[in-house]
Amino acid sequence: MTETMPHPAETDRVVRPSQASVFETLEVAARVVVPTVAVGVVKRRPLMMALAERFQVDRSAIRLLQRLRDDHGSRPLRLAVPGRTIVVLLSPDDVARVLAETPDPFSPDTVEKHAALGKFQPHGSLVSRNRPRRERRRFNEAVLEEHRPLHHLAAPMLARINEECDHLAEEAQAAGRLDWRRFQRSWNRLVRRVVFGDAAADDRAVTAALNALRRSANWAYLTPRREQIREALTERLREYLDRAESGTLAAAIAREDPDPAVHPADQVAHWLFAFDAAGMALMRTLALLAVNRGHRHVARCELGASAPDLPEELPYLRACVLESLRLWPTTPLLLRESTTETRWGPETLPEGTSFVIYTPLFHRDRERLPFADRFSPDVWTDGTAEADPALVPFSGGPARCPAENLTLFTVTSALARLLRHGEYRLASGHPLYTGRPEPATLDPFSLSFNTTAM
Ligand code: HEM
Repeated sequence: MTETMPHPAETDRVVRPSQASVFETLEVAARVVVPTVAVGVVKRRPLMMALAERFQVDRSAIRLLQRLRDDHGSRPLRLAVPGRTIVVLLSPDDVARVLAETPDPFSPDTVEKHAALGKFQPHGSLVSRNRPRRERRRFNEAVLEEHRPLHHLAAPMLARINEECDHLAEEAQAAGRLDWRRFQRSWNRLVRRVVFGDAAADDRAVTAALNALRRSANWAYLTPRREQIREALTERLREYLDRAESGTLAAAIAREDPDPAVHPADQVAHWLFAFDAAGMALMRTLALLAVNRGHRHVARCELGASAPDLPEELPYLRACVLESLRLWPTTPLLLRESTTETRWGPETLPEGTSFVIYTPLFHRDRERLPFADRFSPDVWTDGTAEADPALVPFSGGPARCPAENLTLFTVTSALARLLRHGEYRLASGHPLYTGRPEPATLDPFSLSFNTTAM
């Protein structure tokens, strides 16, 4: 069993037990949990995101957890919650352990996740256990081609990505502006085409139905399930999967012969939901490149040396996308629930303990990372990020996102296409400035760019 490494603060002073007081627990609730839940865990709420940016809520959460780590040491911090054992992880080693020892004894299928994701993907991989989880995970890994930087369908995918981005760039240039609304319309079309094919390009109803369920999922067990909408959505997804248009993920599914426990439509509902995060990462990366001339120059050089119509990895641009996800992780809370008793140094935590990993603490830890608040894409190519078990925008271990490669390919290719069309200057009213520390919270929905042709 892994032992927890002591935090430097523990070696030169007396450490209080790793039990938070009631007041400290209320602070964690008010400064970490409430803001994260308020912005919408499953479907972001634009108004709340704007407020979160205004008050830089992630900074306050990070500072609180750093203070608690100084006061209590870095062992899992038990919150004072009656009737449940909930601990917050404060050390990178513990993050590494919990992610590596997933799904047993640390199951990703937690009470909260089950209540939320169950509203639109009751058979989703993340909300499953035992054999169904194994089959669903295996299916996702196979169809999404977890270990291949370029999916075997990368070429037909790229053709669709390029068409959508050409159209978006032309529209934005005609209007002189690229904003979230315009971007989102194109992004949703692009996602439907990559997943289902051209027949779904204009099927906004399918996205709207999923969004309605996701809004309800934000409230987890506080609102009832909307079974009628879910059944209609599942039916629609099945129709697209049966059609299996060539060159799409639906066609990749058709090559599989999944176990009946898999429920492919539920896995696909997760994919459509998760592509939203990819869109946010794209807009944030575009913003970072807009204010960082040096990095923009390197990215443009990489584009200059590559062919626009051939699928390529584009390692530098890919690192920029990963870096935007380090700075602003789209899954800020990684949750696990233990299936047995677990030992943590001198302490034992009971079966059913909830483990909370708040990733911004580790991604933006000024006490550990010299580049914490700086846009530093190089950490993703020089081995720095790889060596740090707590830099986990796509999670880690056996529940790591199986679509990391596919997502990075899609976002990087779309970004590349947009950059080939023109220049993007950030319009005013955002918190990003050249040479200043990056803000802890960045609302993607209020980003907008003045665009000009190359
Ligand atoms: C920027 C975009 C994305 C990010 C940052 C991201 C991140 C993550 C993270 C952090 C997890 C693991 C959660 C945990 O450990 O509890 C996860 C799981 C998963 N993601 Fe992604 N994801 C993204 C996009 C996608 C896309 C586009 C797809 C599908 C096409 C996808 C498919 C999945 C699946 C199926 C799982 C569940 C894995 C399991 O149950 O073991 N993700 N993702």
